[in-house]
Amino acid sequence: MFLLSLGEELFKYQEKGFLSFHTPGHKGKREFFEGLNFPEQDLTELSGLDMLHAPQGVIAEAQKRAAQVFGAEESFFLVNGATVGNQAMFLALAGTKGKVLVERQSHRSVMASLVLSGLEPVYLKSIIHPEFHLPLGYEYKIEPQLWRGIQGIHLTYPSYYGTLSDIAPVVRGRELWAPSIPILVDQAHGSHFLSKLFPSGALAWGADLVLHSSHKTLSALTQAAMLHVQGERISRSRLKQALEMLQSSSPSYLLMASLERAVEFAQQENRWNLLFEAVQELHGQAGKALRILNPGDQGQYGIDQLDWSKILVNTSSLGLAAPLAVDFLRTRFRIEPELWDQENILFLLGIGNTPEEVLRLTEGLIAMAEWAHQVNGLGVTPSKLRENTLRSAKELEISLPPLRLTPREAFLAPKRQIPLKESLGKILGESISPYPPGIPWVVMGEEMTPEVLEALLNSPSKRWQGWDNPEHGIWVIEEG
Ligand SMILES: Cc1ncc(COP(=O)(O)O)c(C=O)c1O
Repeated sequence: MFLLSLGEELFKYQEKGFLSFHTPGHKGKREFFEGLNFPEQDLTELSGLDMLHAPQGVIAEAQKRAAQVFGAEESFFLVNGATVGNQAMFLALAGTKGKVLVERQSHRSVMASLVLSGLEPVYLKSIIHPEFHLPLGYEYKIEPQLWRGIQGIHLTYPSYYGTLSDIAPVVRGRELWAPSIPILVDQAHGSHFLSKLFPSGALAWGADLVLHSSHKTLSALTQAAMLHVQGERISRSRLKQALEMLQSSSPSYLLMASLERAVEFAQQENRWNLLFEAVQELHGQAGKALRILNPGDQGQYGIDQLDWSKILVNTSSLGLAAPLAVDFLRTRFRIEPELWDQENILFLLGIGNTPEEVLRLTEGLIAMAEWAHQVNGLGVTPSKLRENTLRSAKELEISLPPLRLTPREAFLAPKRQIPLKESLGKILGESISPYPPGIPWVVMGEEMTPEVLEALLNSPSKRWQGWDNPEHGIWVIEEG
């Protein structure tokens, strides 16, 4: 088969002229990069340009400015995405012995952080929303005994879908039961939480380490992110060591300069004000024809607040499978969403979107709903959709398998690949998540249970994260 080069494919994609409702947040707009010259400024640690790993000049100043704007004591620029931020947060914890509380629904970089740190996870389980069939919320009721012997607690705030759970009980619980334990927050999807238009960021809640994926909703270049720290619970020297160990020794100056600028653009509240009005309009108009997650959903199923800049649409009431809806939006309206599953589509706004683009999304959604009525869901009956959905909802409710080895022990242990159907009772050597939504059914080191095995054998999903090669079986730990 004839394949174009990567560069040609990028060019071809660009030519299609899609409207971006996905990351990065700058949405391809040049205004965010005026005066940032490529390739001339693709430079390295030269005179006057400072050094990321021992900053004393312009990088130190830019990081200071970021800390000031976001309300941290110290901020660090990341050039390996928020991914490296999660990893550094875990390595900055006091020890590799002991437990850490983490959400089962955490990003896979958190699972990698468990391998790197050696800590034993104790999982917090999310609540599956009965209409969207997605893990949209948590009730953080952490029993006093769970605080004992932990090195830290890691939360994701907001979720990918823009939902926020109430962190207050965690902060109160810490005060009562474990005042020295750090709270780490993955705020990858909420780096834009600066003005009153948005929920407060986790630094304001008293979190010790807070991670921003600044390229997702702000204007930084893809891969540019930030880690913020405050208080005494985290050793700064250990954190710096972790970042130096994990990040490139040739950090991109273009990424760092884009972060410096993103901090300034982030404060232009008016951009978000205009988008806010356009999104209200979208809910008012398209919300009549479609189920869209909206402020009325707050206070239920572990959802405390919503970030309005994420628009989650459920197509099942239209009797329309979401992938068909996405085809319609792409071909007829040139609209590109962030992600979709069988019944939901997620649209992400960023600082680079305009109210006109949101209006186009509104028109596209209304037209899509009308089209679905005309074609009667293209023959997919609502009951068939419901049947598929219920199956996936059941799969999301899978009980946590027993943990026999920590993820690090499992990662380092000798392994062999065996047929899936022979894996009952074995300790697994790989983590497996259906994607989306990417919640692991098993994490390496856990035991294969009848429930997980049945779900894996019967799942209609073909998209997996972490499963090396489903055709060849599954990796298990050599025992005995
Ligand atoms: C919740 C969460 N945390 C961390 C990351 C990693 O971010 P990055 O892509 O900047 O490495 C992601 C990426 O999607 C994410 O969704």
